[in-house]
Amino acid sequence: MSKKEAVETSESQIAVHWEEEQYFYPSPTFVGQANLTDESVYDRFSLDNFPECFHEYAELLDWDKYWNKTLDTSDAPCWKWFTGGRLNVSYNCVDRHLAKNANKTAIHFVPEPEGEKIDHITYQELYIRVNEIAALLRDFAGLKRGDRVTIHMPMSAELPITMLACARLGVIHSVVFGGFSANACADRIVDSQSRVLITMDAYYRNGHLLNHKVAADEAAEISAKQGQVVDKVLIWQRYPGKYSSKTPLVEGRDVIVNEKIKEFYGARVKPESMKAEEPLFLMYTSGTTGKPKGCQHSTGGYLAYAAGTSKYIQDIHPEDVYWCMADIGWITGHSYIVYGPLALCASSVIYEGVPTFPDAGRSWRIAQDLNVNIFHTAPTTIRALRKLGPDEPAKYSFKFKHMTTVGEPIEPEVWKWYHREVGKGVAIIVDTWWQTETGGFLCSTIPGIKPMKPGSAGPGVPGIHPIIYDDEGQVIERGSGRAGNICIQNPWPGQFQTIWGDRKRFVDTYFSRYCKNSESKDWRDWPYLAGDAAMEAEDGYYRILGRIDDVINVSGHRLGTKEIESAAMTVDEVAEAAVVPVAHDIKGKEPDLYIALKTGVQPSVELQEKISAAVCSQIGKIAKPRKVWLVPDMPKTRSGKIMRRVLGAISNNKDVGDVMTLANPDVVEVIKGMIKN
Ligand code: WTA
Repeated sequence: MSKKEAVETSESQIAVHWEEEQYFYPSPTFVGQANLTDESVYDRFSLDNFPECFHEYAELLDWDKYWNKTLDTSDAPCWKWFTGGRLNVSYNCVDRHLAKNANKTAIHFVPEPEGEKIDHITYQELYIRVNEIAALLRDFAGLKRGDRVTIHMPMSAELPITMLACARLGVIHSVVFGGFSANACADRIVDSQSRVLITMDAYYRNGHLLNHKVAADEAAEISAKQGQVVDKVLIWQRYPGKYSSKTPLVEGRDVIVNEKIKEFYGARVKPESMKAEEPLFLMYTSGTTGKPKGCQHSTGGYLAYAAGTSKYIQDIHPEDVYWCMADIGWITGHSYIVYGPLALCASSVIYEGVPTFPDAGRSWRIAQDLNVNIFHTAPTTIRALRKLGPDEPAKYSFKFKHMTTVGEPIEPEVWKWYHREVGKGVAIIVDTWWQTETGGFLCSTIPGIKPMKPGSAGPGVPGIHPIIYDDEGQVIERGSGRAGNICIQNPWPGQFQTIWGDRKRFVDTYFSRYCKNSESKDWRDWPYLAGDAAMEAEDGYYRILGRIDDVINVSGHRLGTKEIESAAMTVDEVAEAAVVPVAHDIKGKEPDLYIALKTGVQPSVELQEKISAAVCSQIGKIAKPRKVWLVPDMPKTRSGKIMRRVLGAISNNKDVGDVMTLANPDVVEVIKGMIKN
């Protein structure tokens, strides 16, 4: 695809645009208690002080052995941070807090049914449970340092416990979002070559106890067909002591963790002393092609960055009760429910279910009852909470000092409601821009230093130096307000190390476009291409405009258009499929699916439903198309490329522009007519 076409099909063309807004300032009370109020931090983390500045983050951790090289660039652009250093992540998130804070709550698990008791797990209890499951994984499942394990679990306390147990052993976890289908889970099992799958029997969502174990059976079956045999399925029980799934256990393969673990009561497992650059986990994300990419994150650099940004941008103190509503199955949950907050000895809330179940006040009751003072969610949830219960927050007595938004651009109107109603006019907001690949925040205001500006993420966080290029590779002047492709000039410790098993794709996707010299071992030659369009205002604040590649952001979740298209193509009758993002007032974007049927196949409602069902079963319900349009033909260029830009304009009721250069301009009117009716 030529560069011009890549930009033409971009989502930023139909992104929301808004005016620059006025600043909002943090209150003196907030600033008085903030972890970071010293503006010299920007000098300390300037490019002149790179990479040594990141010592400050690494110092937040306990090291078995100090590093001797801060940044090793010898294998550019696969950077290695803190080489020579050794540490263990579970030790840093659990053991080291016991001396002073054994009885402090580490995790508050809130079940969706309101009548069920909240589970308050102390650091001491976390320590015991992590050790016991680590012993089971090692001695029963035979897992050892460097092995991969796939975890397909819902929001539960057992999920972070299992992750921390893997980290204790040096086992690389690959957590798959619980809402993903068995197919999606199988793809990840195969790609990561996992022979152990960890799951849960059931969980609550919207008032229903869903059978989750069934997905494990299907996933194991699909992955076996692709040559990856799962020989153990470990099943946690939603209600310990009771099996809550209708799906029978498979003899010889399935084991109930809650029973097996009795053999390991009291077990203690010495934390493996990991090299800083050994992988901690894989997190799969969508990209331009159909196959999800396994982003490989490191041990030392990742944890240092998650802890540092949690401390300075989220302003987490050990005495805070912190609630991030994301799912642990996404990067936000890894960095900012589990690893960052626990490394800092905070109390982290995990909520099982839907924020508006059984009513729009639920989230605020949880916040009130647990005394949550730091809150973190996505614009899609804020929009939903606002729509369903604009006046609900005022009815409850919770008081946030700090709130985060993440995952997609937030409209200034929604931002102001969040500030006024949820933050009760006093909480500060950070709009954090980052990605699965980046491990932690890239752009945000520092809450005690910089004022907030609705609709803009803010400047690069300490040690992150963005730069915007145009399509021709020229740098766009700083502060000019002109949009282009945002890159980061320098590496940082939280950055992923590679794509699991596909270094070439890693280099091609993220570096080759603006690399100055592909032989170079100097980081200055390797700007990181984030894949978003952005502009920088005069004050140095960045506004993110949306993806420049074929990725759609639905409710803050990344979906590859190619993934959805190839799911649709699994239906026999489908000849061609094209997906475009369409604006939605709560989800941000939704996929609209255009289908050309094979010759001779008649369009029907049944076929539309069949195609939609195929997408849900291949990927998950989050990918469900708004509509499946069965069109007589796709608008195409003369070289036969589907013009998604034209379809995108039609779906969004925008001007389609000049279509006369298309091979089949007439079809545009036909499709427009279909969509109007
Ligand atoms: C988008 C989620 C605007 C962006 C942490 C990015 C945002 C993609 C913001 C990554 C924000 C994330 N403002 N857009 N504050 N945060 N994005 O990998 O397009 O699920 O590239 O990571 O979400 O999504 P991912």
